Amino acid sequence: MKVLIIGGGGRCHALVYSASKSKRVSKVFCAPGNDGMIGMAELVKISDSDIFALRDFALENKIDLTIVGPEIPLSMGIVDEFEKVGLKVFGPSKLASKIESSKEFAKDLMKKYNVPTAEYETFDNYQLACNYIDKMGAPIVIKFDGLAYGKGVVIANTVAEAKETCDNMLVKKIFGEGKIVVEEFLTGPEFSFMCLVNGEIVLPLDIAQDHKREGDGDTGLNTGGMGAYSGVPFIDSKDIDYSMEKIMKVVANAMINEGCLFKGVLYGGLMKSPKGIKVIEFNARFGDPETEVVLPRLDCDIIDVIDKLIDGVASEITFKDEVSLGVVMATCGYPRDYSKGAVIEGLEDIDVPIFHMGTKLVDGKYTINGGRVLFVLGRGKTFKEAQIKAYEAVSKVKCDNLYCRSDIGYQVINYNK
Ligand code: AMP
Ligand code: GLY
Repeated sequence: MKVLIIGGGGRCHALVYSASKSKRVSKVFCAPGNDGMIGMAELVKISDSDIFALRDFALENKIDLTIVGPEIPLSMGIVDEFEKVGLKVFGPSKLASKIESSKEFAKDLMKKYNVPTAEYETFDNYQLACNYIDKMGAPIVIKFDGLAYGKGVVIANTVAEAKETCDNMLVKKIFGEGKIVVEEFLTGPEFSFMCLVNGEIVLPLDIAQDHKREGDGDTGLNTGGMGAYSGVPFIDSKDIDYSMEKIMKVVANAMINEGCLFKGVLYGGLMKSPKGIKVIEFNARFGDPETEVVLPRLDCDIIDVIDKLIDGVASEITFKDEVSLGVVMATCGYPRDYSKGAVIEGLEDIDVPIFHMGTKLVDGKYTINGGRVLFVLGRGKTFKEAQIKAYEAVSKVKCDNLYCRSDIGYQVINYNK
């Protein structure tokens, strides 16, 4: 098979890595990919949001299977365009990807089908939102119902802060037109549960946890993710069964009922709260950086699984008896301002997988080309072993302009003690 992966970051590098190991795959393309994938995939110079050019490329090159990484092309309808011309593609339609792109759609679906989630109301009126906030009290969570470049979720610790956030979003319209969802603040460990779905078939991947904050001990600003691990001991098999039966399968069936069958990765961002497991959000795609820790643990051929799943055939997904832990090396300054271009050395001395998130080859040398730059993976029988391997590799990367958290996996390592 000829396989096309769409996207350019660490998640797509991990997909390329898995596809290149598949016995069924003769060639892997990645659009636009990144320079870290050279040798594993042929890079295609088409942006991941140029959906018509991607469709034409797939037709001309007789691509047998396309897997879409990022949300933007999904919400633009890339899957619909590919399917119109008979191309096989793994991802949800434009309609089904609303489960990620519209918080209101996702929350209303959960309410209608009794999927456990935080209590909420949707508002486009500032005064009504304030009345609800007065009734609920703080802390309380305000979510903008639309594209907000990762800044659309505010956890307000006081009623005044909550009302100011509503003023910013509904009156000052800092993100443009859009409603808000105001929801109950929940506490507890979060975990990411990705399932490969086609209609009512739901195939679970092992769970992962990412580290969203920039600083050690989960302090500082939110980021796209500073590290992750997979194999999460404080989420036991009962929790997984509950999440499968009461959340993921219910939602897959609900999507069929609502006339927007879901095919692709259904990502549940879940929280184990004192009141039980609840949904924080759904994504309609592989998580980043969760994919980078989950896929390398697979003991089966993911391309074969996906290819059959699109044809309506369910396969078993098996995992190696090991855990994984990955550290993101980010550019100094990220998630604020940062500069590109610094040379990265030492990568050739590293014997663990490194997924490139934002690098570029300049005169034969890797240079920084983004906020998050490298994902360094450690694997082992224990989290401690995986953590030591990851940080040993990190110490070999030579670049003054990169930083990382020093405590990725601290929750599980402390848990094991
Ligand atoms: P979201 O984009 O909806 O995943 O929200 C981003 C982050 O905000 C989540 O990963 C949580 O850490 C936090 N968050 C969102 N909703 C809630 C909630 N209802 N209670 C507590 N924390 C939340
Ligand atoms: N790691 C969270 C996401 O992919 O959105």
